[in-house]
Amino acid sequence: MRNVALVTGSSRGIGFEVARQLAVRDCSVIVTSRSKDTATAAAEKIGSAAVGHELDTSDEGSIMTFANWLIREIGRLDILVNNAAILFDENESILGTSAETFETTMRTNALGPLLMTQAVLPLLRSSKAARVVNVSSGAGQISSMTSYAPSYSISKTTLNAITVMLASALPFARVNSADPGWVRTDMGGQNAPRSVEEGADTIIWLATLPDNGPSGGFFHDRKRMAW
Ligand SMILES: NC(=O)c1ccc[n+]([C@@H]2O[C@H](COP(=O)([O-])OP(=O)(O)OC[C@H]3O[C@@H](n4cnc5c(N)ncnc54)[C@H](OP(=O)(O)O)[C@@H]3O)[C@@H](O)[C@H]2O)c1
Repeated sequence: MRNVALVTGSSRGIGFEVARQLAVRDCSVIVTSRSKDTATAAAEKIGSAAVGHELDTSDEGSIMTFANWLIREIGRLDILVNNAAILFDENESILGTSAETFETTMRTNALGPLLMTQAVLPLLRSSKAARVVNVSSGAGQISSMTSYAPSYSISKTTLNAITVMLASALPFARVNSADPGWVRTDMGGQNAPRSVEEGADTIIWLATLPDNGPSGGFFHDRKRMAW
């Protein structure tokens, strides 16, 4: 039986590349976007191993509707890649961050992955090899933190804390954070040095870890990073 993988925010960028590569590795892949049509179009580009579905990770109702569909219609999940995220405050100072930007960013980038994981837990518990990859960022690393993108960076630090707690709560699974590096996407811009293939590499590695692989870590280029 094929493994089933869900990649949130996989209509483009790193998420699309992760979904494409998981399909090549013989997974059935669920591709998501906030727009149903966009998700369907992205899944069609990947081929018959992919199916598209609408999902807004900033909206608890959308997460629950999606999870109910997944449980009812697919009935299986082995790999969850919490990839969807927004970057709204690249040029803002922590002193000027608005409540709206902070709340929307935390809701999408940190709370969304937590609620998503909770919602699909019955399926992950039934998997023989459950893997959760939270797509984080070097910007969330406290030990090298600068003044860059305050809401975004803090959301990724929070996501890393969620990774540690989930790894402890789900000993049957491998739960890790990945930093893809600076990648040429809509979010990263065209001056970024890395391709989407390079950005996806550590995420794919963590999504396909063996049973004795690490859990509760933060990885860049397959190497463990300090928090
Ligand atoms: N690019 C970089 O240099 C870089 C560096 C470090 C970390 N990262 C991380 O890598 C991941 C992917 O980034 P990327 O560069 O590929 O970004 P991107 O090109 O901007 O793509 C973001 C994806 O997330 C989806 N998305 C955004 N808000 C969403 C929401 N509320 N609900 C569901 N889906 C949502 C988008 O789909 P729709 O718009 O179709 O809904 C899109 O598929 C993110 O977690 C990002 O923080 C990226």
